[in-house]
Amino acid sequence: MNFMKKKISLNENLELLFEMDQKIFTREFDSKFESMEQVESYYYGSEIYLFYSENTCAGILAYKHTNYGSNPKKNESIDKSIRKNSVNLVKLAVLPEFQGRGLGSQMLEYFKETNSKKDLFLTTHPRNRGGVITYLKSGFEIYGWIDNFEMTGEPRLKLRLLRTR
Ligand SMILES: CC(C)(COP(=O)(O)OP(=O)(O)OC[C@H]1O[C@@H](n2cnc3c(N)ncnc32)[C@H](O)[C@@H]1OP(=O)(O)O)[C@@H](O)C(=O)NCCC(=O)NCCS
Repeated sequence: MNFMKKKISLNENLELLFEMDQKIFTREFDSKFESMEQVESYYYGSEIYLFYSENTCAGILAYKHTNYGSNPKKNESIDKSIRKNSVNLVKLAVLPEFQGRGLGSQMLEYFKETNSKKDLFLTTHPRNRGGVITYLKSGFEIYGWIDNFEMTGEPRLKLRLLRTR
């Protein structure tokens, strides 16, 4: 299937990002946005792309460049195993009716290509079978575990794709 990519600004698309999330993250282990403020702070500083099938928005890709050192206080809680100048996958999400048609892999390939010289990092819930399979097939490796991710009481797997050894 053919999907068209569109780069978007956060401020003009808060509602769309909120609504997409409500439709996609419906599983018991998912954490969902509860307000527009949460959407804003979650995506703040990210590059955000929407992927369209004709006129329907089918998927979201968002990533953020890590830049330690500029504000050490703010970065105190950051995982030190995530290297300087790496890129964090902030969101990879496909509407249920478009899942299983290759869009997740396509968005991940775009993420890898546009950041081809950088180390890539992400977290996902260990029970997120589709996510884990998609990431492992795309070359990511599991390197860690978080017991209580951001005080949600839920765990996360840590995955990475290293290019700069
Ligand atoms: C995870 C997600 C992004 C994958 O996107 P997708 O478009 O459905 O995935 P693709 O069609 O590109 O499939 C990628 C590969 O993983 C496999 N896969 C995907 N979901 C799977 C599932 N639930 N069970 C088994 N295999 C699965 C596919 O079979 C495919 O392998 P193939 O190339 O051999 O067919 C999508 O399912 C999604 O948005 N899920 C809900 C949100 C989410 O969990 N996002 C990740 C949070 S970190």
